[in-house]
Amino acid sequence: MSLNGKVAIVTGASRGIGRQVAIQLARSGAKVAVNYSSSRGKADEVVMTIEQFGGQAAAIQADVSKVSEVEALFSETLERFGRVDILINNAGIMENNVIADVSEEIFDRHFTLNVKGTYFACQQAMKHIAQGGTIINFSTSVSGAMLPTIVLWEFSCR
Ligand SMILES: NC(=O)c1ccc[n+]([C@@H]2O[C@H](COP(=O)([O-])OP(=O)(O)OC[C@H]3O[C@@H](n4cnc5c(N)ncnc54)[C@H](OP(=O)(O)O)[C@@H]3O)[C@@H](O)[C@H]2O)c1
Repeated sequence: MSLNGKVAIVTGASRGIGRQVAIQLARSGAKVAVNYSSSRGKADEVVMTIEQFGGQAAAIQADVSKVSEVEALFSETLERFGRVDILINNAGIMENNVIADVSEEIFDRHFTLNVKGTYFACQQAMKHIAQGGTIINFSTSVSGAMLPTIVLWEFSCR
């Protein structure tokens, strides 16, 4: 499928699954905002990889657990590429926590990124995404496993 002319934001694209998604979108022709939180060097390396095969990408720092930084991620992408067609909400953490051992700090860390970050990125997409655009939210197949006493931290919406 050709994504020529489309612009994608991939949250947490400096490494792991997000990195591969960003590269694949660029291979299909999309211009990609490679979001990262702290791994500047790794995000730059993803951009270089994309540019080496003739694609276009920009590394954009934003902690997506903070609403102001989600807004900045969208405005920087719009400034750089002029539109947004695809949002991939990939940034997320999932520690294997037993319910009884979850502290307030662990709870907040997961919810501010997996739930709040995803929610407000969707909100920004509702404001800015072009007609016919796409939002993909990551979850985990572990949610189907119904493991007793284990917390499932992934947020998913349709
Ligand atoms: N790997 C699996 O087996 C698996 C299974 C099921 C679901 N998932 C889900 O798939 C997604 C990707 O998983 P992964 O294993 O590829 O992750 P990963 O290797 O740990 O990479 C996480 C990415 O998210 C970024 N990130 C972390 N906190 C952030 C924040 N506050 N704001 C912006 N970016 C942030 C990181 O950026 P920095 O490098 O700058 O820190 C990094 O690029 C997650 O939602 C995860 O829960 C993964």
